Amino acid sequence: MKQIVLVDSKGRKRIVSLTGGTVRVGQLGVLDTSRIDESSLGKVISVGDAEFLVLEPSLLDRIESIRRKAQIVLPKDAASIVVNCDIRSGCTVVEGGTGSGALTIVLANFVRPDGKVISYETREDFRRTAEENVKRAGMLDACSLREGDVINGVEETNVDAFVLDIPNPWKAVESAFRTLRPGGRLASYVPTMNQVEKTVRELRKRPFIEIRTIETLEREIVVGEMGTRPSFKMLGHTGYLTFARKVEVPFRHSRAQQ
Ligand SMILES: C[S@@+](CC[C@H](N)C(=O)[O-])C[C@H]1O[C@@H](n2cnc3c(N)ncnc32)[C@H](O)[C@@H]1O
Repeated sequence: MKQIVLVDSKGRKRIVSLTGGTVRVGQLGVLDTSRIDESSLGKVISVGDAEFLVLEPSLLDRIESIRRKAQIVLPKDAASIVVNCDIRSGCTVVEGGTGSGALTIVLANFVRPDGKVISYETREDFRRTAEENVKRAGMLDACSLREGDVINGVEETNVDAFVLDIPNPWKAVESAFRTLRPGGRLASYVPTMNQVEKTVRELRKRPFIEIRTIETLEREIVVGEMGTRPSFKMLGHTGYLTFARKVEVPFRHSRAQQ
């Protein structure tokens, strides 16, 4: 056990690394991490005047704890990217742009221990924040965070997936095509339909098949004793996800390419 998550009575979470020494928990006080072991899980401890539940951090806890510089890809969309790009242990994934590193953390969680996420970010200040976030999430071993522009091409070749969350992904389609292995997957996440159309137009110029755009909607259900109904609050829109699969030569008249 390298890290724990401390959950306060309001459900707020802090991930703490078990260094064996003392660590400061916000403004609340100091925690002696040598006191924490497997037997602490699920129990309440005190730090200063505050009480916390001790749990093992989940992937969601890690994402929710990151410091945000840019808008992050939310878990519902990240989950769809993982499944549609068939991302699993051992995969090599190129990502552009890193932003706050939320999606990087999800991708790393699935490719490790043998795979790698190579993430490109044009802004050095964002790259540095993302690196801190990825490190705090315990995923740095599976990541290489680089300052660079994915549109200009990347060093990697024969990668399993190329994942884009940049404002102009259509400009990176050629770079992705050159970088992917045959059968490799591209994913693009954008907030508007105009961006989707431009991206799909570029994909259709090349031997990509299974080009598909989706939107995922998540609605929380409030379960009450007197009745169960959808929550009145709902995040109406995050982004559109476009997926495609590179091949060497497409069928001449392929429904898969539509
Ligand atoms: C919306 S943020 C990505 C958020 C990230 N997916 C997350 O979940 O935290 C978009 C990022 O892409 C970067 N960016 C824009 N164009 C880029 C390019 N051509 N290559 C690499 N990064 C780029 C921006 O600086 C910004 O940090």
